[in-house]
Amino acid sequence: MNAVAASLAPEAPRTAVVLLGTGVVGRALLTLLGTPAAGSLRLVGAANSRRQHVFADGLRPADVPDALAKARDGRDNAPLLAALDATGAGRKVVIDATACTKEATRHAEWLERGYHVVTANKALAGGHLQGWRALQAASAGGAVYGDAATVGAGLPVLSTLRRLRRCGDSLLTLEGVFSGSLSWLFNQYDGSRPFSALLGDARRLGFTEPDPRSDLSGEDVARKLLIIARHAGFALGSDEVEVESLVPEPLRDLDTKAFLERLGELDEPLARRHAEAKAKGKVLRYLARLNQRGRARVGLVEVGPDHPASRLSGTDNQFALTTTRYHSTPLVIQGPGAGPEITAQALLGDVLAL
Ligand SMILES: NC(=O)c1ccc[n+]([C@@H]2O[C@H](COP(=O)([O-])OP(=O)(O)OC[C@H]3O[C@@H](n4cnc5c(N)ncnc54)[C@H](OP(=O)(O)O)[C@@H]3O)[C@@H](O)[C@H]2O)c1
Repeated sequence: MNAVAASLAPEAPRTAVVLLGTGVVGRALLTLLGTPAAGSLRLVGAANSRRQHVFADGLRPADVPDALAKARDGRDNAPLLAALDATGAGRKVVIDATACTKEATRHAEWLERGYHVVTANKALAGGHLQGWRALQAASAGGAVYGDAATVGAGLPVLSTLRRLRRCGDSLLTLEGVFSGSLSWLFNQYDGSRPFSALLGDARRLGFTEPDPRSDLSGEDVARKLLIIARHAGFALGSDEVEVESLVPEPLRDLDTKAFLERLGELDEPLARRHAEAKAKGKVLRYLARLNQRGRARVGLVEVGPDHPASRLSGTDNQFALTTTRYHSTPLVIQGPGAGPEITAQALLGDVLAL
């Protein structure tokens, strides 16, 4: 019997959770919820984009996919919140493992109603400034917003920044590689093979989204930069990040199949950029940057061998924080910044920290 099932008991649990999203990250979290580490939690509901399944006395995480497949009702959050309420738990938590903007817009409302929210979904905190402000106002009420999974898949970036700020330190500049797929692509790219061939490898290895334009557009990196910058006190609007997309203009509006057939059109411009960098003894990296005046940019940059990003490997992320007290050399946080297991662990860690 797994840990969550063993904890099924008539008395109120200390923490009850519902899970939105049973995709790659959601499934990894269901596995973790079945381990002893999650023994103090009661899972009372789960949903995908089409339906939900609830049981206030507690669900076995392993049964969720089957239960969802058999569920009949259309998608509605009310039964999920009602199941949380019915437990009488001291802590009621909505875990958002979707990328759905509609669900993200509800985060502030759930916090206001006293539900803690733990999320991998960046759409609210990394979206319009108005949404960020609503989140800040709602969090002041006592319910907690667990956001470790939104940046660096749980690398201790946001928690470190919060700790520094509590000590009176402040972020001056930020620079880094915030995308596992773009990190891998430019760590590999040495001009010997076309960029499109590497991109094909990255897709097969599961490092990119099924439509790699989600990675190549830079929008996901921009959302992460916005989240960190806002945590650091820069009230940046979503239109204030300059984003260099690696997708050539004519390929942006094609359907996925047509785009994949024309991947070769990425090669020539990137080969030219690579050759220019190489002639100066440099390499290309897709960097996110925030300067002291709050200017934010994500895009391709030539970096020399002494730059920390030039020494990255695999799908590692890197966050270099220069602050008033980490001034002569930056505080660098580096490590795997994508992957379902570590992202799910970041979600579980935020729930257990409540
Ligand atoms: N994968 C990673 O390594 C990673 C790392 C860090 C952060 N993240 C973030 O984690 C989130 C999930 O990523 P993923 O890779 O697991 O995506 P995914 O495999 O595409 O799964 C998304 C899940 O969300 C469900 N969903 C969509 N709209 C919903 C709604 N309104 N209510 C309930 N469920 C809904 C989908 O339902 P259906 O099954 O019905 O389609 C699917 O189960 C994203 O925000 C992503 O940016 C992912």
